[in-house]
Amino acid sequence: MKILAVETSCDETSCAVVSDGRVVLSNVTASQTDEHKLYGGVVPEIASRRHCENIVGVCEQALELSGLTLGGIDALAVTFAPGLIGALLVGVNFAKGMAMALNKALIPVHHLKGHIAANYIEYPELTPPFLALTVSGGHTVIAKVADYTDIRVIGSTLDDAAGEVFDKVARAMGFGYPGGVYIEEAAKIGDSTKYKLPRPKTEREYDFSFSGLKTAVINLIHKSAQRNEEIDFPSLAASFQRTVCDVLAEKTIRAAQFAEAGSPYKKIALSGGVAANSCLRKTLAERALENGAELYVPKVSLCGDNAAMVGCQGYYEYLAGNTAGSELNAYASNLQ
Ligand code: KG4
Ligand code: ZN
Repeated sequence: MKILAVETSCDETSCAVVSDGRVVLSNVTASQTDEHKLYGGVVPEIASRRHCENIVGVCEQALELSGLTLGGIDALAVTFAPGLIGALLVGVNFAKGMAMALNKALIPVHHLKGHIAANYIEYPELTPPFLALTVSGGHTVIAKVADYTDIRVIGSTLDDAAGEVFDKVARAMGFGYPGGVYIEEAAKIGDSTKYKLPRPKTEREYDFSFSGLKTAVINLIHKSAQRNEEIDFPSLAASFQRTVCDVLAEKTIRAAQFAEAGSPYKKIALSGGVAANSCLRKTLAERALENGAELYVPKVSLCGDNAAMVGCQGYYEYLAGNTAGSELNAYASNLQ
């Protein structure tokens, strides 16, 4: 089954053709990052307009690279939630129009489930059940993946998402957008033990809270500026990154050990834009190994937003009978 997938939830316009869920025939992404960089973050109005301008060209390119014509497409899959509403609406209406014109099935895909599915592309042998940690600009979620479409969130962030906090802290340090890459780069020459930062506590065991950590870093920068004290930015970046990675790894490993009734999870799948972070990949892989579990993590190009992951999850949604009609709408909030 050949699925043409569309992803426009944030600032990447992406189309892909995916065969039988796991074989990516093409995956084309037009990134708007360079433009949003000028404003220090994604400007929703600009994102929607660029999706509108780019979507047809990106789709044509994805089709061409796949070697198929529209006649060879069996279904359309599209991210319908969550994300920037104006951005999502562009993709949803485009996919809806294509599905109607071609008289093919329309498959709505939840963005979080799409991120998790990036792992199926990377690891053809990976099958549920497993535990997932998805960390992006909008999500910080620990989820039980009981089956391809049976995904239960057991922990999430109470305030900022992990990627969001990377971006905000990077901004306070004077780095560019998106912040995660700059923090990772700066941290390479820093001492991660130099600054003692607070480790967020939450009432529920598998939830996260990063706003206290974010405020601590920002206050430290402001106070140092007031006192005319120099900050060792590489070490502050390294200390911050270490703290986030430790917290994410600790909670995920605990969840893998204790959240499953019966035996612990042997498979942990990392995903989302922040999964590109090498400190997180390394920390979680080490902790998983120590605890008798294996870490799965997609290659960096499949960690950030892309339509291949949407086509992959779309295939499993289709098999489960989860299709939509022309009534399909987009939702900004974190629908399950
Ligand atoms: O999944 P994604 O592309 O978009 C959302 O669904 O939000 O994730 C984007 C987030 C940004 O916050 C960015 O700073 C973060 O992923 N990110 C990173 C790295 N690369 C991207 N965070 C830490 N380290 C990185 N290397
Ligand atoms: Zn995403």
